[in-house]
Amino acid sequence: MRKAKHKSVETRHMEERRELYESLKNIDRRSFLKVSAVALGTAMASGLAWPHSFQPASVLSPSTSSQGAESFRFAYISDSHLYKKDLNDRFVRALLRSVDDVNSMDPQPDFVFYGGDLAQLGQVEELELGAQILKDLKAPLKIMVGEHDWYLDMGEKWQELFGEPIQSWDHKGFHFVILNSVIEKDFWTERGMKPMERMMTVAGLDNGMQSSFTVGSEQREWLKNDLSKYSNDTPLIVFSHSPLYKLYKFWNFWTDDAEEVQAILKRFKSVVVIHGHTHQLLTNRIGNIHFHGLLSTAWPWPYAPEGMPELTIEMSRPDPFNPNDGCGNGEVITHTDGLIDKVYSLWNRNPITISSTYTSSWGKRDRPPMPNRPSY
Ligand SMILES: [Fe+2]
Ligand SMILES: [Fe+2]
Repeated sequence: MRKAKHKSVETRHMEERRELYESLKNIDRRSFLKVSAVALGTAMASGLAWPHSFQPASVLSPSTSSQGAESFRFAYISDSHLYKKDLNDRFVRALLRSVDDVNSMDPQPDFVFYGGDLAQLGQVEELELGAQILKDLKAPLKIMVGEHDWYLDMGEKWQELFGEPIQSWDHKGFHFVILNSVIEKDFWTERGMKPMERMMTVAGLDNGMQSSFTVGSEQREWLKNDLSKYSNDTPLIVFSHSPLYKLYKFWNFWTDDAEEVQAILKRFKSVVVIHGHTHQLLTNRIGNIHFHGLLSTAWPWPYAPEGMPELTIEMSRPDPFNPNDGCGNGEVITHTDGLIDKVYSLWNRNPITISSTYTSSWGKRDRPPMPNRPSY
């Protein structure tokens, strides 16, 4: 029989997938499937809905607003903090699981947004491993930089792999912007720090040596200029790794020039800011700007001891015996009014949706149910 000259998309996809699994020394296909099977068994035993990833919060209608904004959805994955695979393969498996989750969405999302901190210590091997895994996504990838990706070589390898860290584009009536919000003042030169010392300092949340994250005056000028072509009616979605507001300085859950960035955004009728970095359910609203945090695939941070935004529906603390509890990924569903439903697809709990009506009513309508598990 003659060999097929052209391979189907599925065949190519499965071949690439096989190569990827084989190339990951510590993680073969069998052990990954074993992990998935255990996760399925645990979820079923605890009465969770399955599959609980990517359950649409509302039915997408093909309607369009007068400004041209359409309903569509995009998926997100964030904060995988990959180590070299011989040091830690759990985080690698978590990112692989996210890619499988997103690839199983039907229909596929318009794009997948990655929220930063792909690497743990910005090392070439970590970033290359992440890029290799993310290549397996079927939908187009948009990616943002996190501080863990940046401070070993000041973004050199990340930019070689992923391109511009600051960018904007239009999609179905929305204007999207990706910012680099993790710019710190130089605390390393005077101290004569080596690149890895600088990286380790930034990776420590509350060491008191590093400066706070900023967007910086140069980028704020770029943002002003980028937005000058758009009317106030244009729905705007901005991505920043750190929250573009001031939550808790000691953990760098904070952007030092947040108010200046907010001042640039506030003329728009509908603004959504989506951030990574905080690894937890987090919702805030300042004026007309709605803020949503992303889940991490690696670990959930505890909530800050002060400064918590009132709109936040806190998730209960993770089960310490389950390394995937409190982790997950999710999706964003846009509405024609420019606001979004934010779906948190937690791997070991039912999904939680923060609807646009919840944030637009300042929490008076459609309040999500409180977590149904005890805190640990
Ligand atoms: Fe992170
Ligand atoms: Fe971060």
